[in-house]
Amino acid sequence: VSLHRVRVWDWLTRAIHWLLVALIPFAWWTYKTDRMQWHRTAGYAVLALLTCRLFWGVFGSETARFASFVRGPRSAWRYLTGKMQSTIGHNPLGGWSVVALFALLSAQATLGLFAADDEGLESGPFANTISFDAAQSAEHWHGLLFNVLLALIGLHIAAILFYLLRGNNLVWPMIGGTKFVPGQEAAPKQASVSRALIAVALAAAVFAWLWWVEHS
Ligand code: HEM
Ligand code: HEM
Repeated sequence: VSLHRVRVWDWLTRAIHWLLVALIPFAWWTYKTDRMQWHRTAGYAVLALLTCRLFWGVFGSETARFASFVRGPRSAWRYLTGKMQSTIGHNPLGGWSVVALFALLSAQATLGLFAADDEGLESGPFANTISFDAAQSAEHWHGLLFNVLLALIGLHIAAILFYLLRGNNLVWPMIGGTKFVPGQEAAPKQASVSRALIAVALAAAVFAWLWWVEHS
């Protein structure tokens, strides 16, 4: 069959992904080295990117939309048992891991906003809106969920390695945005630049708001 090149992941989806890949180790490192000012700032950036991705999951390019990759368990099973060919974009099984990663990351970063450490020295900007006990338990869950997140990221990378060993490199498309598919497969629809700018503005607004709450 003849192959043609299509855009699988638009620039915004890719930018969000690789920024998250940089920010999560950075958040861990800033905690470890007691740079908590940077830790909170990194967390605000994560929340801004998640908001942007949520918007993009509803109004964005076809492969970024939740409606295009969040499928029922039956699809996931059919895919797993080889009864369904892989598709452009996330496959039915991968779609669930994407949802899990975003959900967990949202919970993790949101808990950080309410977290306070034992001495009450370091805290998120909303910790003072709840009781100290509640803020401490937010910190507890913030630390606990991080380990779950790490496990899920490990699984994510293992899955990508598994595809790589079977000759399917998913990483290039996530970097360059395009991949080759059989000629009869239609290219996924791309959202407009103006819409992407709205998504970016939304991210900037969320970041600015959280920064302002902390510094006011
Ligand atoms: C994805 C984003 C984030 C990641 C991966 C992350 C990760 C972590 C980790 C691993 C810890 C250590 C937990 C422990 O063992 O007790 C921690 C602590 C903490 N984080 Fe985050 N965090 C994130 C976002 C945030 C945000 C948005 C805030 C608040 C603005 C925040 C505030 C805190 C605070 C106050 C602590 C306790 C520090 C201490 O015990 O001295 N984090 N975070
Ligand atoms: C902090 C670590 C990471 C997190 C939280 C993460 C999270 C995610 C998420 C949420 C998606 C879905 C993208 C979307 O639809 O917007 C995704 C896709 C992807 N990630 Fe990661 N990722 C991480 C690290 C990595 C690394 C290190 C690699 C490469 C070695 C990688 C390669 C990919 C690829 C290739 C896809 C596309 C999968 C597909 O074709 O369906 N990720 N990742």
